[in-house]
Amino acid sequence: MLFEHFSFSGLDLGNRLVRSATFEKRADDDGFVTESLIELYEDLARGGIGLMITGNALVHPSGRSVAQMLCIHSDIYIQGLRKLTSAVHSLDGLIAIQLVHGGRQSFPILLGGNDAIAPSAVYDTSTKIMPRAMTDAEIWKIVDAFADAARRARIAGFDAVQIHGAHGYLVSEFISPYTNRRDDYWGGDEERRFHFLEEVYKAMRKEVGEDYPLMIKMNADDLIEGGLKVEEAVKIAVRLEEMGLDAVEVSGGMYESSQKAAQPDITSPEEEAYFRRFGKVFKSKLKIPVMLVGGMRSQSIMEDVLQKGEADLISIARPLIREPDLPKKFEAGKEKADCISCNGCMDFQNLGVVKCIQLL
Ligand SMILES: Cc1cc2nc3c(=O)[nH]c(=O)nc-3n(C[C@H](O)[C@H](O)[C@H](O)COP(=O)(O)O)c2cc1C
Repeated sequence: MLFEHFSFSGLDLGNRLVRSATFEKRADDDGFVTESLIELYEDLARGGIGLMITGNALVHPSGRSVAQMLCIHSDIYIQGLRKLTSAVHSLDGLIAIQLVHGGRQSFPILLGGNDAIAPSAVYDTSTKIMPRAMTDAEIWKIVDAFADAARRARIAGFDAVQIHGAHGYLVSEFISPYTNRRDDYWGGDEERRFHFLEEVYKAMRKEVGEDYPLMIKMNADDLIEGGLKVEEAVKIAVRLEEMGLDAVEVSGGMYESSQKAAQPDITSPEEEAYFRRFGKVFKSKLKIPVMLVGGMRSQSIMEDVLQKGEADLISIARPLIREPDLPKKFEAGKEKADCISCNGCMDFQNLGVVKCIQLL
């Protein structure tokens, strides 16, 4: 099934492989597209991936979680982003952009000394950051920022937009009972914790129109005590589907979780596809395509996930850092990616750009 065409919402993917959003550290210091970033995407397009999703792009300067990330919080970025999409399209690739606000996982040193903002002031034991709870006006401002970014993404030629609603960043923080302790329109119970995402989705949809693919990457489980669990997560996905969402990517974890989105040391087939149990739940409740991400390395495991109906699309991140042409190699008969999940590619501080340290 992996190399079957797969179509949804006007997108025709040559296969069922998706490049999950992967921060590249290849934008310049101000967040503009660089030649190095374009080259990376050209390599991915030549490598045969069905759909690629950019590393998280910033919708508002108050949500910066890392340096040299793509930015889309002003119209000045459109021109560079258009260059990126044109390069991919000229190689017949499909490219979506992931939109993020880092919330409490943003660093004051990257915010001109300002506090990180979040639904509630919940101390992050992993980063040692105490965020400031957002005011109502601030929340609406960020809703608008997501919508404006989606508008820019469409103008810049992206084939789709993905909301980063996973991994403990702002959208995920509003959904999660662990990070959202508010008692107002934005939090207090399940219904109110959904409001931020609901407003973001509605505002984005209004900007891009009904015919444009909007997707989300979300946690099925925060993998932390008191966090979001799959029962609630899938209900959120169903509500978004009813509102017109086009696809959902299933992930898990946040900075503070003991188990994170990118789990290390996957050494056996049993350790692969570590979120497949969640994919199964999402698939059982949704009609829109479900992308599953997390630890898939072997073609036979990916095929098994598809055959068992645990996902419609297979998302991979780390293996493509090492082998951007992995889809072509798979198609030619390669069984397993070379990636050993050492997570050396996540040493953002010390790497000039995100790359596979095994190849250094
Ligand atoms: C270097 C690196 C950067 C990442 N950047 C992002 C990102 O920008 N947005 C996102 O949603 N996930 C990001 N992730 C998580 C991946 O998309 C993916 O969920 C995770 O690595 C598990 O998939 P894998 O086992 O195929 O790598 C990143 C992971 C790595 C290793």
